[in-house]
Amino acid sequence: MAEKRILVVYYSRTGVTETVAKNLAERLGAEIEAIAEERDRNGAVQYMLAGKEALMESLPPINPPTEDPANFDLVVLGTPVWAFKMASPMRSYLAMNEGKFREVALFCTHRGSGGKGTFESFEKVLDIQPVAVVDFHEKSVRSGEFSGNIDEFLERLAE
Ligand SMILES: Cc1cc2nc3c(=O)[nH]c(=O)nc-3n(C[C@H](O)[C@H](O)[C@H](O)COP(=O)(O)O)c2cc1C
Repeated sequence: MAEKRILVVYYSRTGVTETVAKNLAERLGAEIEAIAEERDRNGAVQYMLAGKEALMESLPPINPPTEDPANFDLVVLGTPVWAFKMASPMRSYLAMNEGKFREVALFCTHRGSGGKGTFESFEKVLDIQPVAVVDFHEKSVRSGEFSGNIDEFLERLAE
Protein backbone atom coordinates (compact mmCIF):
# COMPACT_ATOMS: atom_id res chain seq x y z
CA MET A 1 0.00 0.00 0.00
CA ALA A 2 1.22 3.53 -0.80
CA GLU A 3 2.29 5.70 2.15
CA LYS A 4 -0.43 7.81 3.76
CA ARG A 5 -0.38 11.46 2.66
CA ILE A 6 -0.56 13.49 5.86
CA LEU A 7 -1.18 17.21 6.40
CA VAL A 8 -0.62 18.93 9.76
CA VAL A 9 -2.77 22.09 10.04
CA TYR A 10 -2.40 24.36 13.05
CA TYR A 11 -3.28 27.74 14.47
CA SER A 12 -0.89 29.33 16.96
CA ARG A 13 -1.03 32.81 18.52
CA THR A 14 2.18 32.69 20.55
CA GLY A 15 4.14 29.79 19.04
CA VAL A 16 3.42 26.92 21.45
CA THR A 17 1.08 24.98 19.16
CA GLU A 18 3.41 25.77 16.28
CA THR A 19 6.31 24.04 18.09
CA VAL A 20 4.24 20.87 18.48
CA ALA A 21 2.96 21.06 14.89
CA LYS A 22 6.48 21.28 13.48
CA ASN A 23 7.68 18.41 15.64
CA LEU A 24 4.74 16.19 14.59
CA ALA A 25 5.08 17.09 10.90
CA GLU A 26 8.74 16.17 10.95
CA ARG A 27 8.13 12.87 12.70
CA LEU A 28 5.23 12.00 10.39
CA GLY A 29 6.91 13.13 7.17
CA ALA A 30 3.86 15.36 6.69
CA GLU A 31 3.11 18.58 4.86
CA ILE A 32 2.37 21.50 7.16
CA GLU A 33 -0.02 24.44 6.94
CA ALA A 34 -0.37 27.36 9.38
CA ILE A 35 -3.77 29.02 9.67
CA ALA A 36 -2.97 32.72 9.26
CA GLU A 37 -4.91 35.93 9.75
CA GLU A 38 -4.33 39.53 8.73
CA ARG A 39 -5.11 40.88 12.20
CA ASP A 40 -2.69 41.30 15.09
CA ARG A 41 -3.81 39.35 18.16
CA ASN A 42 -1.20 40.74 20.57
CA GLY A 43 -2.16 42.56 23.76
CA ALA A 44 -4.72 42.34 26.55
CA VAL A 45 -7.68 43.61 24.54
CA GLN A 46 -7.06 41.06 21.81
CA TYR A 47 -6.74 38.32 24.45
CA MET A 48 -10.21 39.20 25.78
CA LEU A 49 -11.65 39.33 22.27
CA ALA A 50 -10.12 35.95 21.44
CA GLY A 51 -11.77 34.41 24.50
CA LYS A 52 -15.10 35.94 23.55
CA GLU A 53 -14.81 34.66 19.97
CA ALA A 54 -14.07 31.14 21.19
CA LEU A 55 -17.05 31.21 23.56
CA MET A 56 -19.40 32.65 20.93
CA GLU A 57 -18.10 30.14 18.34
CA SER A 58 -17.37 33.05 15.97
CA LEU A 59 -15.82 32.55 12.52
CA PRO A 60 -13.20 35.30 12.09
CA PRO A 61 -11.73 35.82 8.60
CA ILE A 62 -8.59 33.77 7.88
CA ASN A 63 -6.23 33.86 4.91
CA PRO A 64 -6.99 31.32 2.17
CA PRO A 65 -5.18 28.04 2.95
CA THR A 66 -2.56 26.79 0.49
CA GLU A 67 -3.33 23.07 0.71
CA ASP A 68 -6.62 21.34 -0.02
CA PRO A 69 -7.28 18.84 2.83
CA ALA A 70 -9.23 16.66 0.40
CA ASN A 71 -5.88 15.72 -1.18
CA PHE A 72 -4.69 14.05 2.05
CA ASP A 73 -5.46 10.67 3.62
CA LEU A 74 -5.10 12.10 7.13
CA VAL A 75 -5.24 15.67 8.45
CA VAL A 76 -3.78 16.38 11.91
CA LEU A 77 -5.44 19.49 13.39
CA GLY A 78 -3.79 21.49 16.20
CA THR A 79 -5.03 24.44 18.23
CA PRO A 80 -4.40 26.24 21.50
CA VAL A 81 -7.26 25.88 24.01
CA TRP A 82 -9.28 29.09 24.15
CA ALA A 83 -11.96 29.19 26.86
CA PHE A 84 -12.04 25.36 26.96
CA LYS A 85 -12.70 25.21 23.21
CA MET A 86 -10.76 25.37 19.93
CA ALA A 87 -9.34 28.76 18.91
CA SER A 88 -11.72 30.69 16.65
CA PRO A 89 -9.43 30.73 13.56
CA MET A 90 -9.38 26.89 13.66
CA ARG A 91 -13.19 26.97 13.70
CA SER A 92 -13.10 29.19 10.58
CA TYR A 93 -10.73 26.71 8.89
CA LEU A 94 -13.07 23.80 9.62
CA ALA A 95 -16.09 25.73 8.31
CA MET A 96 -14.18 26.57 5.13
CA ASN A 97 -13.28 22.91 4.58
CA GLU A 98 -16.46 21.16 5.65
CA GLY A 99 -16.79 17.61 4.33
CA LYS A 100 -13.21 17.52 2.99
CA PHE A 101 -11.57 15.39 5.67
CA ARG A 102 -11.14 11.64 5.16
CA GLU A 103 -9.46 10.99 8.51
CA VAL A 104 -8.46 13.42 11.28
CA ALA A 105 -6.34 13.41 14.44
CA LEU A 106 -6.40 16.26 16.97
CA PHE A 107 -3.94 17.93 19.32
CA CYS A 108 -4.09 20.99 21.52
CA THR A 109 -1.91 23.01 23.87
CA HIS A 110 -3.14 24.66 27.08
CA ARG A 111 -2.23 26.07 30.46
CA GLY A 112 -3.74 23.35 32.57
CA SER A 113 -7.35 22.78 31.52
CA GLY A 114 -6.50 19.68 29.45
CA GLY A 115 -7.98 18.89 26.06
CA LYS A 116 -11.40 17.41 26.82
CA GLY A 117 -13.62 20.43 26.09
CA THR A 118 -11.54 21.36 23.09
CA PHE A 119 -11.75 17.91 21.52
CA GLU A 120 -15.50 17.96 22.13
CA SER A 121 -15.69 21.32 20.33
CA PHE A 122 -14.14 19.64 17.27
CA GLU A 123 -16.40 16.62 17.47
CA LYS A 124 -19.45 18.92 17.39
CA VAL A 125 -18.49 20.36 14.01
CA LEU A 126 -16.71 17.46 12.30
CA ASP A 127 -18.80 14.67 10.80
CA ILE A 128 -16.07 12.08 11.55
CA GLN A 129 -14.48 10.81 14.77
CA PRO A 130 -10.76 11.53 15.28
CA VAL A 131 -8.44 8.51 15.07
CA ALA A 132 -6.35 9.89 17.95
CA VAL A 133 -6.14 12.94 20.25
CA VAL A 134 -3.39 14.31 22.46
CA ASP A 135 -2.97 17.46 24.58
CA PHE A 136 0.15 19.23 25.85
CA HIS A 137 0.67 21.65 28.69
CA GLU A 138 2.27 24.86 27.41
CA LYS A 139 5.05 24.57 30.00
CA SER A 140 6.07 21.13 28.80
CA VAL A 141 6.26 22.35 25.20
CA ARG A 142 8.34 25.39 26.14
CA SER A 143 10.73 23.18 28.12
CA GLY A 144 11.01 20.74 25.21
CA GLU A 145 9.70 17.89 27.37
CA PHE A 146 6.28 17.44 25.63
CA SER A 147 4.27 15.93 28.49
CA GLY A 148 1.50 14.60 26.22
CA ASN A 149 1.72 11.01 25.09
CA ILE A 150 3.16 11.83 21.70
CA ASP A 151 4.52 8.32 21.02
CA GLU A 152 1.14 6.64 21.55
CA PHE A 153 -0.49 9.33 19.39
CA LEU A 154 1.98 8.66 16.55
CA GLU A 155 1.52 4.90 16.86
CA ARG A 156 -2.25 5.25 16.45
CA LEU A 157 -1.75 7.36 13.32
CA ALA A 158 0.40 4.67 11.80
CA GLU A 159 -2.33 2.00 12.20
C1 LIG B 1 -8.17 33.77 24.69
C2 LIG B 1 -7.44 32.64 25.36
C3 LIG B 1 -8.13 31.73 26.12
C4 LIG B 1 -7.46 30.67 26.76
N1 LIG B 1 -8.18 29.75 27.45
C5 LIG B 1 -7.54 28.71 28.05
C6 LIG B 1 -8.28 27.71 28.75
O1 LIG B 1 -9.51 27.71 28.80
N2 LIG B 1 -7.58 26.72 29.36
C7 LIG B 1 -6.22 26.66 29.33
O2 LIG B 1 -5.64 25.75 29.93
N3 LIG B 1 -5.48 27.57 28.64
C8 LIG B 1 -6.11 28.59 28.00
N4 LIG B 1 -5.39 29.52 27.29
C9 LIG B 1 -3.93 29.36 27.21
C10 LIG B 1 -3.49 28.75 25.86
O3 LIG B 1 -4.26 27.62 25.53
C11 LIG B 1 -2.02 28.31 25.93
O4 LIG B 1 -1.25 29.39 26.33
C12 LIG B 1 -1.55 27.77 24.57
O5 LIG B 1 -0.50 26.85 24.76
C13 LIG B 1 -1.08 28.87 23.64
O6 LIG B 1 -0.77 28.31 22.39
P1 LIG B 1 -0.17 29.17 21.18
O7 LIG B 1 1.16 29.71 21.65
O8 LIG B 1 -0.01 28.20 20.08
O9 LIG B 1 -1.11 30.28 20.86
C14 LIG B 1 -6.04 30.57 26.65
C15 LIG B 1 -5.34 31.50 25.88
C16 LIG B 1 -6.03 32.52 25.22
C17 LIG B 1 -5.26 33.50 24.36
